[in-house]
Amino acid sequence: MNNILYFNKVTEQNFFIKEVTLEANSVGFYDLPEQKIDYILEFAKNVKKDNIAVIGIGGSSLGTEAIYNFLKSSNNYKKNLIFLDTTDPVTIENRLSKIDIKSTLFMIISKSGTTVESISIMKYIETKNRFTRENLIVITDENSPLEKFAKTRNLEVFHIPNNVGGRYSVLSPVGLVPLAVIGIDIKSLLKGAKSLKEKFFSESDNHILAEKSTFYAMNFEKYSSNCLFSYSEIFRGFNSWYVQLWAESLGKKQIHSTMNVGLTPIGLIGPTDQHSFLQLIMEGKADKTVTVIKIENFGSDISVPDITFEHLEKLDIANNIKFADLINLQADSTIEALNKIGVPLDVITLDSISEKSIGEMIYYYELLTALVARQLDINAYDQPGVELGKIILKNKMEKS
Ligand code: PA5
Repeated sequence: MNNILYFNKVTEQNFFIKEVTLEANSVGFYDLPEQKIDYILEFAKNVKKDNIAVIGIGGSSLGTEAIYNFLKSSNNYKKNLIFLDTTDPVTIENRLSKIDIKSTLFMIISKSGTTVESISIMKYIETKNRFTRENLIVITDENSPLEKFAKTRNLEVFHIPNNVGGRYSVLSPVGLVPLAVIGIDIKSLLKGAKSLKEKFFSESDNHILAEKSTFYAMNFEKYSSNCLFSYSEIFRGFNSWYVQLWAESLGKKQIHSTMNVGLTPIGLIGPTDQHSFLQLIMEGKADKTVTVIKIENFGSDISVPDITFEHLEKLDIANNIKFADLINLQADSTIEALNKIGVPLDVITLDSISEKSIGEMIYYYELLTALVARQLDINAYDQPGVELGKIILKNKMEKS
């Protein structure tokens, strides 16, 4: 992974690097790249079912979806993975209609073990096929009500480390178990995260991440929105994960004041949004920073055929250009346009579509979020606003 910043660098970040280093002693996500995963690999090896269904919402499914969507188009996974992450009835029925429930391994994933949406979906499926050790596993916090339920049916349980928050949990059993079962190389995924971690915490790092976070924090009022302009469809899941991570972690009251602060995440997909949202960045309110994500090697050779359509001869300029080069030319054109008007911009280039690349990206964004939170004086790991929504929903259901 290569990251270039095009905006003015700031230097006051060393203090925050030290703070994050201290935080790493108690916040669990930092250490996930080094965890033991043999028991997960052993479990995955023995799963015979061809359909896997994750039941979980927010941090319990978005990260897994991000990694799966990033890798699935260029890999031929034998097993089919679906996500039941919504109470939208049409979508539940539609997704379930794509699999044979009787030959599916369900994974209920909930850190708290009390999220009513996820448990309600689980109930719906129970009416179609009773859950047993053969068709349901549980991924949750130790001693959660969900784990207690699991004991009543003798289900396999994987624990989420206590100090790993929901939206930071994709590199824990939350993501690793379903991904390993599908056939994704979770060792390489963690290796990618570890390489990013080691680089960041090494003396010799040039601390681009800290510079970037300092810029975001110092300019949070002027540049209140951060656009992730990802040049490939395979980033759709990643963009949604980023939006959750950024919004739920960085929209808060400050720890040492009563002031509300926040940064607004916007997920864009290059080829599409170059023809739509780009206009707003170029000529709308100048309140946005942009990160362009490119892939250097798509592993595809398809190109624009060397043919001419009548009246469309001028468009032969694209003939013989590989689509992989075309999409990167589009990205470079957006970069040039944004640079022309001085939008604060940085470009991340991934070498290839691999477990290592997405592992690096996940860890990069978790670290960036932690750094910005420190500098904005907010707690990146709670979500009082989301919790209030959960309480109100439960109250409404009690009354209905
Ligand atoms: O990041 C978070 O804490 C939330 O998005 C949770 O992941 C989400 O609310 C689901 O909670 P749980 O995993 O407890 O079911």
